[in-house]
Amino acid sequence: MSTQEFNAGYRYSEIYEEVLPPHYYGGKEDLDLVRDYLSTHLGPPPDAGKHEVLELGCGPGRLTSLLAPYAARLLATDKSEGMISAVRQRFADITTRCTDTESVVHALHREGRSNSFDLIGAFWSMSYPLLECFEETTADGVVSTTDPEQGRTRARSLLQHLVDLLAPGGHMIMLFFDANTEEQRLVTNLWERIAPFPGTGRDYTWNLLHDALIDADIDDRGTFHHARLPGVAVLRSTTAAQDWFLTGHLNNYAKLCNDPRVHSAIDAFVHKHLRPDGTVHIPSAVHFVDFHADTNPSRHLPTADS
Ligand SMILES: C[S@@+](CC[C@H](N)C(=O)[O-])C[C@H]1O[C@@H](n2cnc3c(N)ncnc32)[C@H](O)[C@@H]1O
Repeated sequence: MSTQEFNAGYRYSEIYEEVLPPHYYGGKEDLDLVRDYLSTHLGPPPDAGKHEVLELGCGPGRLTSLLAPYAARLLATDKSEGMISAVRQRFADITTRCTDTESVVHALHREGRSNSFDLIGAFWSMSYPLLECFEETTADGVVSTTDPEQGRTRARSLLQHLVDLLAPGGHMIMLFFDANTEEQRLVTNLWERIAPFPGTGRDYTWNLLHDALIDADIDDRGTFHHARLPGVAVLRSTTAAQDWFLTGHLNNYAKLCNDPRVHSAIDAFVHKHLRPDGTVHIPSAVHFVDFHADTNPSRHLPTADS
């Protein structure tokens, strides 16, 4: 295991957990946003879960621990072997698949699992399979599709099958990065030294998801709830902040990480957000998504206590 290796932050759960800073939104860490949402909509964690639960891009299981109490059965998936092996060690009772999200969503559809998941979670992980419909990044470079329309069709099909997996009344909850923050604008600017992003740019994956869920709502498949929450990522030192950029955002991609101009841009950003106590507070934002597959028109009626 080398911390300098391409994609080390996704290959090795220890490196991911080491570089990932806590993110806070309105006084709550990202985990607590999800914990509170589940508690409000599904009730406090029960002693025995009764739901069919799917988590996509589970990583080392940071949020799996919040979903698990609600689950009669939990399927956690991630394309990284290192992440899947960490999640298996942490949760003995769950089923895992080491595969990419696009493949697993289509596979579940073929296996007859449509309309069967009461809870689907994808936390900071849905942008990757959507981007992979248009381009693939390896240690050697970014290979873009020659047919962007085909990429859009792939992305739409992935999102339609994903919505299809929800059982009536089920919730699909996501945390999705906001490309428009100062932090992500810098990351975009750095990656665009290698290749431009497809479609509308770095926010394209969010736009695809947003449009697909609006369409599903219009088609009366459920209700799309969305909030953009501003927040902050807290890094314990300038070194931790630099590592977050190099390993977390630039995936240790050699051409960028060996470029002194990239280091200067990151250093200037980090020093701008340096606090007197030596920590670095980076402005952040997250899209909080819940697609609720409730199609009963009576849900709009006032309740007795309203
Ligand atoms: C930012 S991490 C989030 C992990 C976890 N959900 C969390 O919140 O800590 C993104 C995860 O998505 C996984 N991933 C990236 N591309 C993927 C893909 N196409 N299909 C499935 N998982 C993917 C990575 O291996 C990584 O574990």
